[in-house]
Amino acid sequence: MKKFILVFLFTLLILPSLAFASGHGHKREMKKGILLVAFGSSIPEAQVSFENIDTRVKKEFPDIPVFWAYTSSIIRNKLAKQGKTLDSEAMALAKMTDQGFTHVAVQSLHTIRGEEFDDLVQTLKAFEGLPGGMEKIVTGAPLLSSQKDMEDVTKAILANLPAGRKKGETVVLMGHGTPHPSNVFYTALMYHLQKKDPLVFMGTVEGSPTIDDLIPMLQEKKSKKVWLMPFMSVAGDHARNDLAGNEPDSWKSILEKQGFKIEAVLKGTAEYDNMIDIWVNHLKEAMAHFK
Ligand code: CO
Repeated sequence: MKKFILVFLFTLLILPSLAFASGHGHKREMKKGILLVAFGSSIPEAQVSFENIDTRVKKEFPDIPVFWAYTSSIIRNKLAKQGKTLDSEAMALAKMTDQGFTHVAVQSLHTIRGEEFDDLVQTLKAFEGLPGGMEKIVTGAPLLSSQKDMEDVTKAILANLPAGRKKGETVVLMGHGTPHPSNVFYTALMYHLQKKDPLVFMGTVEGSPTIDDLIPMLQEKKSKKVWLMPFMSVAGDHARNDLAGNEPDSWKSILEKQGFKIEAVLKGTAEYDNMIDIWVNHLKEAMAHFK
């Protein structure tokens, strides 16, 4: 009986370690990495936005390697023709897997949780838990993801309004806009902005509200001058052409035709430190999962 108990105890003690050893089960050391994912831009002046974020993130996490990916294949192909290679999110994750990263925080540099963000999340799921691959991938939320973000972004926008704006002058921001349900963030943001400053408007180039929706609202304010600002991370093609370009269908031309005086400030949201703070806070929340 005594012998039996000893064997039994021995089995209990030894079995788990055998099972562990059978999978070459030496536990890998945690190797943390950061992947920053943006839509991308091929406009050289827009790079300042990305450099700004890159610098801030590296300052915030000095010991953690930072990788970049652009989700837009059109932009990546354009850049490739100029000799600049940028990875897709899948390519960046494959490289990081090869380099032995076990825990990766992927920070979305998108503005809302739209289609691009949904696609990113799906790609990340595919990479998590591959044999010998990454153990944990955590996503950092886009700029506008929660009620707190809504309040923080409102504050940041109001702080970044053009210094030269005089009393009674209106400001129109151009968001991207999307057929995705998350488009409602733009209207919600306008509500929050107008609670603080009724002369600030939010429109979109590819969703709702459109510039045509805004025109009667602007006319009602009887302001002679409208300031235009992009509400996109970079002041790229949409900002330079659809917002402030000289083509007849740009917002500048459309509003000029309505009799408004126009001035544009072409700075992407990622050029403002108070906006980057919001993305960096989301990244900190993601990294906190790895402690
Ligand atoms: Co677009």
